[in-house]
Amino acid sequence: MPTLAERDHAVLWHPYTQMQTAPLPIPIVRGEGSWLIAEDGTRYLDGISSWWVNLHGHAHPHIARRVSEQLSTLEHVLFAGFTHPTAVELAEQLLEILPQNQARVFYSDNGSTAVEVALKMVLQYFHNQGQPERRTFLCFRDSYHGDTFGAMAVSSRGAFTQPFWPLLFDVEFIDVPVPGREAEVLAQLDAALARPEAAGFIFEPLVLGTAGMVMYAPEILSEMLRRCHQRGVLCIADEVMTGFGRTGPLFASELLTEQPDMMCFSKGLTGGTLAMGLTTCAAPIYTAFLSDDKMKALFHGHSYTANPVACAAALASLELTRTEGCTAQRQRIAAAHAAFRQEMDGLPGIRQVRQQGTILAVEYDPGEGTSYFSRLRDTFYQLAIDSHVVLRPLGNVVYLLPPYCTTHEELELLYAVLRRMRELVLNHIPAANLPEYLHD
Ligand SMILES: Cc1ncc(COP(=O)(O)O)c(C=O)c1O
Repeated sequence: MPTLAERDHAVLWHPYTQMQTAPLPIPIVRGEGSWLIAEDGTRYLDGISSWWVNLHGHAHPHIARRVSEQLSTLEHVLFAGFTHPTAVELAEQLLEILPQNQARVFYSDNGSTAVEVALKMVLQYFHNQGQPERRTFLCFRDSYHGDTFGAMAVSSRGAFTQPFWPLLFDVEFIDVPVPGREAEVLAQLDAALARPEAAGFIFEPLVLGTAGMVMYAPEILSEMLRRCHQRGVLCIADEVMTGFGRTGPLFASELLTEQPDMMCFSKGLTGGTLAMGLTTCAAPIYTAFLSDDKMKALFHGHSYTANPVACAAALASLELTRTEGCTAQRQRIAAAHAAFRQEMDGLPGIRQVRQQGTILAVEYDPGEGTSYFSRLRDTFYQLAIDSHVVLRPLGNVVYLLPPYCTTHEELELLYAVLRRMRELVLNHIPAANLPEYLHD
């Protein structure tokens, strides 16, 4: 009798996985708080919220109840010509807590589609106003905004996108204004903004996730947005990862003094329960699509746009996120991370420790450049799994992004693994012990 993992291996194709060399996947049959429970009963501590989506713990009873009620009330209805209570309520509640200039909500299916919608809104905003020549996007050289074609085009020209480079539209890349590089980046931005085609600037506010949890300050980002606005360039905050409390405040953009024109959300939107994306925009963008001319409408939509069950999950998760208890949990995790950062900062084997709210990243010093394909990656991954902890190192950068319900004791288990990774680096693991394959 084949195991579940063997049956999987016979029929499935996993994302970001070299199927020829990857070990069999770990079969998970249940989730409970910060834990994932395998078929054989082994419990794994989810240190990265299952690809950054989970906020309040797995199989949360409040979200489960709301989803179940919605399922037996209205499971789906097309969203052109029709509406339903949960879509309206979610949009109303979000606009209450988003930066004040955000006026409209457009639903889609995931983070990539939320980005696609924002890009299309920018292009058509200028098109509808008779300026189709304004069609160039500015973005950070190391950014990641998703895997669909538009999202890839505004993402780093790295290993993920290489086979598709010839088909990706041209963008203006600028460096990330990490501390010490601000003036240089502002000069790059000014040069890019001098081009008459400049239309939009898309960015991950404060933390570039996939780039390796690269962090930069709200002050410099605010200044960048100010300069964009002076040139009429629309600014898109991709809060797919940073949204819903990850960086401290509910949204990273709250720390800015200059507000984005559009925002993208997914991941934590439903508390990690169901796939959903949304794009919000300021009023002038929306009004640029209003006309007697039908051709000025936004021709974008997905069959499952504003799915009522996903909206119900998002409402239930939002209710939990807005409690004082959740704020206290996030503050507790941030404080624990800050203490751990102090402990590790400057130690041999550590290049840098970065933290923003509940996100902690340790950049180990492998004696070579920082890279997603660092040979340390697989060794670190295996060490975590052997310790019954789920982490997905970004090369030699290992980060924690735990569900907010993660307890002090559970955080200590995660920190212990990070300490052991440093020992491994210090002991100069011989190259022969480093697996050659990449299953990522
Ligand atoms: C900042 C950011 N934007 C967009 C995406 C794409 O989201 P999805 O994987 O839901 O398509 C991601 C995914 O990691 C992300 O981190």
